[in-house]
Amino acid sequence: MKNLAVFVSGTGTILEAILRDNIPVALVLADRKCRGLEIAKAAGIPTELVERTFGKGFNREEYTRRIFRILLDHEIDLIAMAGFMTILAPFLFKEWPGIILNTHPSLLPAFKGDNAVRDALNHGVKVTGCTIHRATAKLDEGSILAQASVPVLPEDTRNTLHERIKRKERALYPRVIKQMLKP
Ligand code: GRF
Repeated sequence: MKNLAVFVSGTGTILEAILRDNIPVALVLADRKCRGLEIAKAAGIPTELVERTFGKGFNREEYTRRIFRILLDHEIDLIAMAGFMTILAPFLFKEWPGIILNTHPSLLPAFKGDNAVRDALNHGVKVTGCTIHRATAKLDEGSILAQASVPVLPEDTRNTLHERIKRKERALYPRVIKQMLKP
């Protein structure tokens, strides 16, 4: 059995969907105190809070080294980033032997970055969606494993559109993770 770690920073509703699907989670790691961490604790899953600082003093290499060691300690094989908001140092993607997945709230390669939902609205696209992809050292790149589309409605706000996208992510991501966990 492969050991799955889920990385979170926020509300953790995608983590909840993974757990609802009865996918075994060996570790939930967060970069800040957040609801996602609380959900993991309530479910009895091992957690690691690797708090980061923001601004100039943040040492990305050192921070990523701390995470690297935790991955080895927990014998993690597969990471699913689910709303994890820290960009990890490039060495992780080269040196850590496991697989790293990410879910992103747009149809990549459109609208990379932290503001994918806002950018889609600002561009006036009529269709957007979510992408499950292998994460690489380059933000929101890496081979695409699955996508799902949603309509953008005239009355949409960032919240209503993001929630429509997240409903798709909650259905799609667990399916992809299950595939990746197969021996
Ligand atoms: C998702 O839309 C994910 O793609 C983005 O952050 C959101 C996480 O949602 N990077 P939640 O914290 O699981 O509710």
